[in-house]
Amino acid sequence: MKIAIGSDHGGFELKEFIKAFLINEGYEIIDYGTYSEKSVDYPDIAKILCENLLKKELKRGILICGTGIGMSISANRFKGIRATLANDLFSAIMARKHNDSNVLVMGGRVIGKEVAREIVKVWLNEKFEGERHQRRLNKIESII
Ligand code: RB5
Repeated sequence: MKIAIGSDHGGFELKEFIKAFLINEGYEIIDYGTYSEKSVDYPDIAKILCENLLKKELKRGILICGTGIGMSISANRFKGIRATLANDLFSAIMARKHNDSNVLVMGGRVIGKEVAREIVKVWLNEKFEGERHQRRLNKIESII
């Protein structure tokens, strides 16, 4: 599976760690930046990742900023993106089972690397449960 990844400066260190982990696990990673700890604006990174996720055959993306909040707000402006902030395991599991999350968002200044790695693992493996949850997602899609 190809995975898109991106961060601002607040998430840069965690992005590099997660990227290395995923490459080691055999995933193909497309890194939309940022590429250093120099300050950048998180909406720019969210935009490029989400636009590419929606037009390519990429199914999943991971965005990281300081808290995860700015990336979440930005990514959810794109129709078809279901960006879910998960700084804990339970949220990551439920984001897949109930929300069919296609973008995982984490806060690089909120959680440690090991917790983040476990979050990524469960988020990649959990399956969407469909049924009543699909009905709810359809209602979200109908909101202009
Ligand atoms: C950058 O300083 C910080 O505001 C950003 O990484 C993020 O936490 C925003 O929500």
